[in-house]
Amino acid sequence: MNKFTGRLGEPKGLNIEPWTPDYEQAPGVKGGQEKQPYVDYGTDRLSDNEKYYSAEVLAKEWDLLFSKTWQICGHINDIPEEHCFMKHDFGKESLLFVRGKGDEVRGFYNVCQHRGTRIVREHYGRARSFTCPYHAWSYTNDGKLAHLPGRETFREEVLCRNLDMEPVRTAVWKGWVFFNLNPDAGSLEDYLGERFRASLDAFDYPNFIRLYDVRQTWDMNWKTSLEAFIEGYHVTSVHHVTLTPVMDDYYVQQDQYENGHGRSIFPFMEPAQSYLARAEGRDDSLKDEMKLFLTAAGLTEDEFPARWQDVKKAVIEGKRRNQAKLGFDFSGFNDDQLVDDWNISFFPNATFNTHPEGVLFQRWWPDALDPRKTHYSLQVYAMKGECVIPSYMPIHPDADREGKRVLEPMFLEGMGGAALGPVVMEDVDFVPWYQKGVESRGFRGSNYGEHEVRNRQFYHEYYRYMNGSREV
Ligand code: FES
Ligand SMILES: [Fe+2]
Repeated sequence: MNKFTGRLGEPKGLNIEPWTPDYEQAPGVKGGQEKQPYVDYGTDRLSDNEKYYSAEVLAKEWDLLFSKTWQICGHINDIPEEHCFMKHDFGKESLLFVRGKGDEVRGFYNVCQHRGTRIVREHYGRARSFTCPYHAWSYTNDGKLAHLPGRETFREEVLCRNLDMEPVRTAVWKGWVFFNLNPDAGSLEDYLGERFRASLDAFDYPNFIRLYDVRQTWDMNWKTSLEAFIEGYHVTSVHHVTLTPVMDDYYVQQDQYENGHGRSIFPFMEPAQSYLARAEGRDDSLKDEMKLFLTAAGLTEDEFPARWQDVKKAVIEGKRRNQAKLGFDFSGFNDDQLVDDWNISFFPNATFNTHPEGVLFQRWWPDALDPRKTHYSLQVYAMKGECVIPSYMPIHPDADREGKRVLEPMFLEGMGGAALGPVVMEDVDFVPWYQKGVESRGFRGSNYGEHEVRNRQFYHEYYRYMNGSREV
């Protein structure tokens, strides 16, 4: 699958040891997060550009990757009580997940076994049975055929077949609901791997609820979309207005976990090195986003520090000091978890920007047939109750902070729009240009730097599925 081309020249006069950005050199406060050892995925140019536009590659991706990997379809609190269900449309499939007793979740293909009609149209709901809109066969919510109108008009040979709904394998981990279209796949626990699980250990996801949910279809391949969200190298060029005043994109800790998952820790509440270089040391001022973070840490304006250099410490101390007032227990978290942006990727197609109080959860998956279309979902899940969540995470006005009323998703027309928030809007603005360029016969292939190590890692795992060398 991966055609490596040529040989890059030896770096001239440079240390050829791989360079990794040293998070410990960042000027702000450190929580001492364990750094995983660097994994060397080499330096080859990835020149199989057709993976970004070929329908043939897309068909293989559905067969070899998306039908074999564990996927996240939502959260157990999206189906808060017994008999609640959610629907997840996924390529040519539509799947239903039904809450049973306790934490049990049952998964089914949303398809009638009479002649194949899709049964349920709602995204979320509560029902003891599902009735097909075509000839009204109905199924109990554990997938058993319950009623077949005009039963006497069917011959016995037809009726004695298995006519129940087709099950889908599901598993729940820390409140997230997963499915796998491969009934023989290995366990979810093994797929997540030790490091991924350990890195999210402190977060109380089972008590999170969905407070924001927008979906949009983008005119680009799912990988050109995803790749812009697993590296911070474009922050200085694309997000110089929105992010560089409050987030460093240089001293980023990159961790590569098992099975293609990974983490970047972006120092937050400190300007990017590029921003500081532009300011030539003359800018000590507090940025707007910093003021929001300070307020969210329970500080009043007269308690704000005078310079940005002291914001990080003030946020951390503020959250610890004011936790009762903020409605949150921070005692199980390290200092950097209280302020930094942990961007965690779940292979192949989801990311978590996670903080103790809330997570911005994004997914990208391909269209069933069109390699130039991505189905995108942006959701915010946050702690139940009235605690303050990070200011960059939107909350829908209809969201119920207690999670009793389930939020409907907003489907956005076109590409972009204010509902995606200012940062993602900037991404959606440039990524179509990326898609156009990778289709050029003049493009010789991708050359990744060390700030794009997770992109390299992604393809390392991707090729294992695509060339059949990954055991599933
Ligand atoms: S296809 Fe569902 S009842 Fe006929
Ligand atoms: Fe971006």
